[in-house]
Amino acid sequence: MTVPASLGVSADEVAESTDVYTLQNQDGLVVKVTNYGAIIMSILTRDRDGNLSDVTLGHRTPSEYIEAAEKPYFGAVVGRYGNRIAKGSFTLDGETHTLATNNGENHLHGGLTGFDKVVWTVKSATKQSIELTYVSHDQEEGYPGRLNLSVTYTLNDQNQLVIDYRGTTDKATHVNLTQHTYFNLAGEGNGTILDHEVMLNADYFTPVDAGSIPTGELRRVTETPFDFTSPKAIGRDINAENEQLSLGNGYDHNWVLNKGVIPDELALAAVVYDPATGRVLTVSTTEPGVQFYTGNFLSGNLTGKSGKAYVRRGGFCLETQHFPDSPNQPEFPSTILRPGEVYRSQTVFAFSAK
Ligand code: GLA
Repeated sequence: MTVPASLGVSADEVAESTDVYTLQNQDGLVVKVTNYGAIIMSILTRDRDGNLSDVTLGHRTPSEYIEAAEKPYFGAVVGRYGNRIAKGSFTLDGETHTLATNNGENHLHGGLTGFDKVVWTVKSATKQSIELTYVSHDQEEGYPGRLNLSVTYTLNDQNQLVIDYRGTTDKATHVNLTQHTYFNLAGEGNGTILDHEVMLNADYFTPVDAGSIPTGELRRVTETPFDFTSPKAIGRDINAENEQLSLGNGYDHNWVLNKGVIPDELALAAVVYDPATGRVLTVSTTEPGVQFYTGNFLSGNLTGKSGKAYVRRGGFCLETQHFPDSPNQPEFPSTILRPGEVYRSQTVFAFSAK
């Protein structure tokens, strides 16, 4: 999907009003963040021999994110609603709201100018942590309520990148933020992620229709290509004859995370291992779902920060989230935020090697 250059801020404005902030921990891991889109521009982690490589897809400067011919949400915070809302419409407290439709007839990732394409304010920045804030005005992209948001990235000395989201509103609205980093644990631009082994802590996923809107069913993964309950190479079943795989052009679905007794508690979502480098990414979240997306729409047209083309399936995303289209699916966990309540969400990306 391309967004007309006239929308949001221009590359010049971005160059003037944004900066790049570097976090570094005791072990030498590095995370670079810009306040354009609250984008994680790079994450340097160690392989099994201790070598550091950048394991995230992206660009060299904030303005390159806006100038790029394609904008696959590299590293960005996505919102006000991550993933799709059917027909760009929902009814809340009896009132129907119409959102931008930017994905066929549906609304995707917050609309034409989502939170990935706005300039955030840097509230505080230290050596290992940065807090970014953004005020989304009432009716922005059609959503009701003025939403005050904060996203904090903390790189701790346990080699975890902790992402904390917080929000308040002055009118009832829907909020579903996520982080859209594309990982390639072999290093960005180093081929596909098809050999990476993935474990998803989920016994069910939400099958979709032709527009990638969940049908409402929670389907067991057992004996389907969607079974990642034991570690499995991404490429093993990705080309299997399967209706859901053809609808998603590969994996581009929401898995229903197995949660303990407390639904909002931080729990294991996924473990990804790259046999070639030994790098391991462990994802935990307070969210009920994760969109596992295998970079099916990367086409090789985009050239990344080290000059290498980003090929189809050259990166994967683990977008921790509430389920797509929850505003229209009362059976799904609710994404409603009301005045007086505080939206809180946490996701932890932990890096190791074996
Ligand atoms: C999500 C969506 C995909 C696609 C990517 C970005 O994963 O589900 O369909 O939009 O983001 O290209």
